[in-house]
Amino acid sequence: MAKVAFLGLGVMGGPMARHLAAKGHDVTVYNRTKAKADAWVSAHGGKAAATPREAAEGQEIVFACVGNDDDLRQVTIGPDGAFSAMGRGTVFVDHTTASAEVARELAAAAETGGFGFVDAPVSGGQAGAENGVLTVMCGGDPEIFARVEPVIAAYARACRLLGPVGAGQLAKMMNQICIAGLVQGLSEAVHFGKQAGLDIEAVLDVISKGAAGSWQMENRGKTMNEGKFDFGFAVDWMRKDLSIVLAEARRNKAKLPVTALVDQFYAEVQSLGGGRWDTSSLIARLEK
Ligand SMILES: NC(=O)c1ccc[n+]([C@@H]2O[C@H](COP(=O)([O-])OP(=O)(O)OC[C@H]3O[C@@H](n4cnc5c(N)ncnc54)[C@H](OP(=O)(O)O)[C@@H]3O)[C@@H](O)[C@H]2O)c1
Repeated sequence: MAKVAFLGLGVMGGPMARHLAAKGHDVTVYNRTKAKADAWVSAHGGKAAATPREAAEGQEIVFACVGNDDDLRQVTIGPDGAFSAMGRGTVFVDHTTASAEVARELAAAAETGGFGFVDAPVSGGQAGAENGVLTVMCGGDPEIFARVEPVIAAYARACRLLGPVGAGQLAKMMNQICIAGLVQGLSEAVHFGKQAGLDIEAVLDVISKGAAGSWQMENRGKTMNEGKFDFGFAVDWMRKDLSIVLAEARRNKAKLPVTALVDQFYAEVQSLGGGRWDTSSLIARLEK
């Protein structure tokens, strides 16, 4: 069993840290809003630390799952950041969806400090985190990855090293490109079916078993039809992810015409007041 810290007890980080504690790891948590860390400790045991630095003190592995690049810099290299307390031979694992650039920047800082860094963004949403069945896409050194993989297994169904530092974030970008186009296609199909007067649930039930089937269709088709979006993966987060994707595409010269368009459609959903709605709310702009 490992001595670990977890920074960021949000929708994703809270349950991930809970799975670590349930497996018997010695878990210290940090959350910017301290009440959340205190509530987590009351429910799951372990210790709460007042700063990322204090949380990282004496740990073998430090995990983080915060919002974006700047949040990640704050909890690592900012004042009272975790990096100043990481011991030699320890590993920092970042589960935030962030840029490949910040992963490389932090990996370089980690190397200077004599510890390892793995970028490890996740897919599977809140339900995946709650049920401990996330998909984890990793970038880093194979020997360092081998040390953290058995611990990550506490909340992962699949965890794979995909290349050097940054490769995990680049893989997550592919994941978000797939989702953007797919959810727009599903939105148009459901919208079309409603206009045509079809029984949408019956149609989705049958076509989900054929070539059009997808996770989004199975898990979001029904709620899209009902216009329910008050759950899941927020549009604001998706726009953050797509801005990372489009910036990377400008650098690597990939052509992403549909992704760029869907990003603008999500901006329209935000202006409808849907910043915190689930990403399946793309259909809302077709039906307004
Ligand atoms: N939700 C999903 O379905 C999902 C799926 C895959 C990936 N992700 C990614 O996972 C990451 C976390 O998502 P989430 O849904 O768990 O978000 P969330 O519920 O909003 O939680 C964010 C966490 O980060 C902390 N935080 C944010 N900025 C901080 C800062 N500057 N300093 C210290 N702590 C900070 C927050 O602390 P406070 O409690 O103080 O606000 C909170 O603990 C994001 O990168 C997201 O894109 C999310």
